[in-house]
Parts: sequence; structure tokens; C-alpha cells
Amino acid sequence: MNTLENISLKNYNTFGIDVIAKRFITVNSFEELKTITSKEKDIFLIGGGSNMLLTSAIDKLVVHINTKGIIVNDQNTNNVFVTAEAGENWHDFVTWCVNQNYGGLENLSLIPGNVGTSPIQNIGAYGVELKDTFYQLEALEIETGKIKTFTNTDCKFGYRNSVFKNELKGKYIILNVTFKLTKIAHKLNISYGAIKDVLKNIENPSLKDISEAVISIRESKLPDPKKIGNSGSFFKNPIISKANFEQLIAKFPKVPHYVVSEKEIKIPAGWLIEQSGFKGKRYGNYGVHENQALVLVNYGNATGNEIFELASLIQKTIKENFHISLEIEVNVI
Ligand code: EPU
Repeated sequence: MNTLENISLKNYNTFGIDVIAKRFITVNSFEELKTITSKEKDIFLIGGGSNMLLTSAIDKLVVHINTKGIIVNDQNTNNVFVTAEAGENWHDFVTWCVNQNYGGLENLSLIPGNVGTSPIQNIGAYGVELKDTFYQLEALEIETGKIKTFTNTDCKFGYRNSVFKNELKGKYIILNVTFKLTKIAHKLNISYGAIKDVLKNIENPSLKDISEAVISIRESKLPDPKKIGNSGSFFKNPIISKANFEQLIAKFPKVPHYVVSEKEIKIPAGWLIEQSGFKGKRYGNYGVHENQALVLVNYGNATGNEIFELASLIQKTIKENFHISLEIEVNVI
């Protein structure tokens, strides 16, 4: 294991923000991780770097999790239990599952990031969330060095949320994640408007058809982080009370919305941001994506603070225009 000093993290975060890590180490096995965490507790973990906005140099030891491996743990007639190591690229893992005809993750194709960080924010897209197929994960408790297994219930999944973003934040390192997938009788989820449109001429879509549809939709709306730095949706879609929604729709009859429960309505933040005139706006090195207003982008050499200031301006404007608070979804560091 080689500790590097004063290296740029530009290639380790999908926003492409150039900040310095004073010390940086890549970990390729559980044993290496165990050795490091037995000596050093105050560390900064980096996986795929797809859900963070870096605003300053990192003084802590940066530990880049690069453990690899996918195995089938168990199976019966209908289901297969597949475990992937934390450092596996998420999309590569989904592709592997689709190619084996294991169903459940195909709607989550092309989401940037790694397997190990996917449960932290319960990644989701096109009517499916990670929690729908998540079976369990193993994580290392940094303080004690003990390994704990977390079931679906233990993770307390919510909309872009889990126990690892709340009470257990910074306490565990996720080592591997197990998914319960289907071998036959796949439960296809193709009700999402855009997927339905792409698949309209295919009679019995396969997992691969769905995955390809999702890839083409994502490619048409979302910028490729390899070309334009970004972190996906920068904000969460706000959930407001029915009473507030009645006032909103009276003023803006066309507001798109999804009913979450009897009392709660979800409003697409992208619509609020577009209505406020930010969609496609460019401020030199950074801006708001032209095809999806929920995505802030780095065109080259933006700093994390510049992007954070833009996010603050958007939050302030949405508050003034709609009386709605937008919550930042990415981790601002
Ligand atoms: N909309 C606009 N203008 C925009 C963008 C969206 O008016 O610029 C409105 C449209 O009415 C559209 C609706 O918002 O119909 C929903 O847009 P979209 O289908 O693009 O989804 P989203 O709500 O903006 C969420 C997730 C995405 C996920 C998509 C598809 C969050 C924070 N974001 O976006 O996740 O891919 O749904 O399921 O929930 C991510 O988390 O990084 C991410 C990309």
C-alpha cells in the first residue's frame, strides 16, 4: 500500500473539482482496509465520487475503496442472491446482472458511482429504488474494527436516504452489498412515461431492452460526467403538504406533481428551477444543465464554492418564488 501526498482529487469526483488530498491511499482488499482503520480512525472515504461537491482541500487521510468482485451467493428456483464488493462500478455491476438475465436492477442502469455507496443514498431512477432489491450489506465499524451485517430494515431506507446519512454517518465502511434478484418471472417496471415511449414497439421487453431504454433516456437528459462534470440531481425533489400544494396549484395550475401519500405531494425540483429561469444558464465555468435543470455542471475549472454559491442562489430564488425549501442531495464537503 502506497500513501500518495498532495494529489489532486479531480479524477476521483464526478464533478471534476480540483482539490488537494494531503494524503491518499487506494485500498484493494479488506485486509488492507482493516490495517489502515486499525491505525487511523479519522479518514475520508471515496468510492466513485459521484455524490459529493468538494469545496476545500482534504486534510484527513483519503481512502479510495477499490475492492472488486461479484459472486452468486445462493439461489433457488426463482431468486438469486448476488454479492458485489464495494469498489465495483455500479453500472458495470448492473450490466453484469442484466447479461446473466438476473432481474431487478435494470432500471438503475448508468447511474454513476460504486456499489458500496449505492445504499447510502438509496439510489433510484425510473420507478425503482435500490431498497426494492437490496438484501443485506456488510460494513466495518471504524471505531471497533467489527463487521456488522445490515438487513433492509436496519438500513432505514427512504427517498434518497438511509441510516448511513443520519445516525450512523461516518461510523461504518460498507464492504459489500447483496441483492435479491429474480431468475424467472421478472417484475418489470416499465410504467415510467419515458420508458413506455421508448419500448412502445417491443412486445415482451427483456431486461436488456429495459436497460438500453434507460441508458438512452439518461444519455438524452443527463450530462456524461466524463465530458461535463456533474453529480446528477443536485437537489432532492421537495415533498410538500397537501395544504401547501393546494395554494401552489391555484397559482401554477400546470405544476407537475406525484402523490406520495394522503398528506404529501412531491414536486419535481427541475420544474421549479426551470420556471425560475435557471435552466441552461451558464456562468463561465459552471452552470445549470440545458436538458435537466436539476443538474448543476462544471464546464472545466469551476471551484466547489462557485457551484455551492449557485446552489444557494437557486435555493433562495425557489423560496421566494414558490415558498418551497430545496434540500441539497449531494454531500457538500
Ligand atoms: N422537469 C422540468 N424541467 C427540467 C427537469 C424536469 O420541468 O429541467 C419536470 C418535468 O415535468 C418532468 C419532471 O420534472 O416530467 C421529472 O423529471 P425527470 O423525469 O427528469 O426526473 P426528476 O424528478 O428530475 C428524478 C431523480 C433522478 C432520476 C429521475 C428518473 C431525484 C432527486 N432525481 O429526477 O435521479 O434519474 O427522477 O427517475 O429524485 C439522481 O438522483 O442523481 C438522479 C439523476
